[in-house]
Amino acid sequence: MTKPRHDQPKESLVKSYKIALIPGDGIGRDVTDAAWQVLKKAADAGGFLLEGTEFPWSCEYYKETGEMMPADGIEILSGYDAILLGAVGWPVDVPDSVSLHGLLLPIRKRFAQYANIRPHRLLPGVQGPLRSDGFDILCIRENTEGEYSGAGGRIHSGTANEVATETAIFTRTGVERILRFGFEQARTRKKKLASVTKSNAQKHSMVFWDEVTQEVAKDYDDVEVSHYHVDAIAARMVIAPESLDVVVASNLFGDILTDLGAAIQGGLGYAASANINPDHSVPSMFEPVHGSAPDIAHLGTANPIAAIWSGAMMLEHLGEEQAARTVMQGIETATGQGVGTIPGKDRTETITQAVLSAVG
Ligand code: IPM
Ligand code: MN
Repeated sequence: MTKPRHDQPKESLVKSYKIALIPGDGIGRDVTDAAWQVLKKAADAGGFLLEGTEFPWSCEYYKETGEMMPADGIEILSGYDAILLGAVGWPVDVPDSVSLHGLLLPIRKRFAQYANIRPHRLLPGVQGPLRSDGFDILCIRENTEGEYSGAGGRIHSGTANEVATETAIFTRTGVERILRFGFEQARTRKKKLASVTKSNAQKHSMVFWDEVTQEVAKDYDDVEVSHYHVDAIAARMVIAPESLDVVVASNLFGDILTDLGAAIQGGLGYAASANINPDHSVPSMFEPVHGSAPDIAHLGTANPIAAIWSGAMMLEHLGEEQAARTVMQGIETATGQGVGTIPGKDRTETITQAVLSAVG
C-alpha cells in the first residue's frame, strides 16, 4: 500500500461513505429525512462525508412497476457502505406478505445480515410503563433463518382438506454464529447472556439451540449464561428487566421480544435496530423497529428518535464511533429537555430540531 502523499489536496483524505437511503412507506419517509439531517450534521462535525443516494422502493413503487425493488436491487445495494431504511408496508394497497418478502426480508437474507441488534433502555426524561427504570437490554435476534426461512407451502387451497405448513429451519452455521455474536457483545458489556428457546415444547430445533449454546459457551467461560423459555423471559422483561443484559433469540422470538422491549422503553418511537453482517464486505442495514404506521402517516407527528438512534448505530458500524456518540448525546440532550418524551406530543420537526441543535 502506498503512503498518502502530503501534497495531495485535502479533500482526497476526507473519508466518505456511500449510503443507500430507502425511506419506504408511510412514516418511513419522515423519520428517514429526520435521521439523515442529524447524520449529515454529525458527519460535518466529525470531518467525514456521507453521500446519500435515495431509492424509491416502496409499495408506491410496486403499484407502478409490479415489484418492490428492481430485479438487480440487491446488486445495486451491494455497491454501498450501508443502507438506511425507514419502513416497509402499506397493506391497503399491497399485502404485507408481498411487500416485506419483496424488499426488507430479501435484503436481510441476501446480505446475510444475520445479527439484528436491538437496544432497549430508557432515554433520559422518557417514562416507560414499568416500575423499574434501571434496565439496559441488548437483544440480539437471529435475522436470516429460523421461523422466517420461508420453507413451506399450501396445498388443496380453498378446500376442506387445505393444508398450510411453515417450517422453521435452524442450521448449525446459523445458530452458532448468532450465539457467538451474542457472546462477543456480552464480553463488551456485563458478561451476561440469556439464550432464549422453547425447548420444553419444541424438542428438535430448540433442544438443538440449547446444545449449541452450551458448546459455544465453552469458548466464553468469562460470560455467565442463562437459559430461558421465551414465555418466561417475556414475563421477566416486565417484572425484572434490570436482571437481563444480552438476550439472544431466534428470528420470531426475537421479533416478538423486541416489540416488548420497545414497549418497556416507552414505545416503538424509541426502538432502534441494526441488521448486521459483521463481515464488512456487504452493506449492513439500519432501521427503526416500528413500521410505516399508516394511521399517522403524513401527519408530521412520527417520533424520529428510533430512526436517528438507528443512524447512530450505522455510524458506529462504519467505524465513526465519536460521531455515533455525538448523535446519541444529541438524542439524550433533547429528551433530557423534555422534547420527544411523550408519544404523540411533539411534532417530528420539533424533535429533529432539538436533536440537531444538540449535535455539533
Ligand atoms: C421487524 C418487523 C418485521 C419482522 C416485519 C415487518 C416483517 O416486525 O423488523 O421487527 O418481523 O422482522
Ligand atoms: Mn417486529
